[in-house]
Amino acid sequence: RKKVTIKKLHQMREAGTPIAMLTAYDYPTARACEAYGVDMTLVGDSLAQVCLGYDSTTRLTLDEMLYHCKAVARGSKTPFLLADMPFGSYQAGADDAVRNAVRLVQEGGMEALKLEGGEEIVELVRRMTRVGIPVMAHVGLLPQRHTSCSGYRVQGKDAASAASVLRAAQALEDAGAFAIVLEAIPSKLGEYITRQLSIPTIGIGAGPGTSGQVLVWDDMMGTWNGHKAKFVRRFAEAKTAHKSGVTGYVEAVRQRSFPDESESYCIDDGEWEAFLR
Ligand code: KIV
Ligand code: NA
Repeated sequence: RKKVTIKKLHQMREAGTPIAMLTAYDYPTARACEAYGVDMTLVGDSLAQVCLGYDSTTRLTLDEMLYHCKAVARGSKTPFLLADMPFGSYQAGADDAVRNAVRLVQEGGMEALKLEGGEEIVELVRRMTRVGIPVMAHVGLLPQRHTSCSGYRVQGKDAASAASVLRAAQALEDAGAFAIVLEAIPSKLGEYITRQLSIPTIGIGAGPGTSGQVLVWDDMMGTWNGHKAKFVRRFAEAKTAHKSGVTGYVEAVRQRSFPDESESYCIDDGEWEAFLR
């Protein structure tokens, strides 16, 4: 497979070829994205919940994100590789945001970064884009703001809210975003925004009319025990495999049926007698 570039992603949008984006959090998940045809690998800050056991993405630090980015980067060659800027790493002024973004590129090995927000981050997106850090925008439901929004809510359900999502998407494209995630909005709005923009739209809970789709690894693999959003489809039942693997192992140890002869090392009879003498 050939390296996926921004140019390739834009060509896919123009050709109407759907873009498949998936999250990865470590070396093995990155290898799976690499091996099985994912176009864009995202080190999502969903890392906080599905890998680190936090209750919200807002708990994830820049250093934690960097640590996981490095592992993903070691396992990723072909897919376009990007990460979420963690909550707090791009809110304390443009200089601080650019410094943190540079760390994710330089130390973390990321090619681009994703930023949640609307018109209030347009200036920052312009600045990052100008210095050569490609930005993927993210509008609609913004998980990093679940507290100020009193929960995880579908956005754009009324005319005013739909208009503000569209306006934000347009402003972010104008500021130089190379692509945009649309999260939890009505599918009509997802399709409408996709037609209005000239950059790829990547939907999660935004219907089938976007340029591509993204899901969280653990959601689509069926390993996640928590809440399952309406937009999640389980493409595998990895939890079932984990359960039978772990229970089978524990049982075999208890019954002493593991290890057997073929899984054990032997010593020459003569050597053994000598040892005993
Ligand atoms: O953190 C994440 O995994 C994401 C995607 C689901 C868009 O932001
Ligand atoms: Na995220």
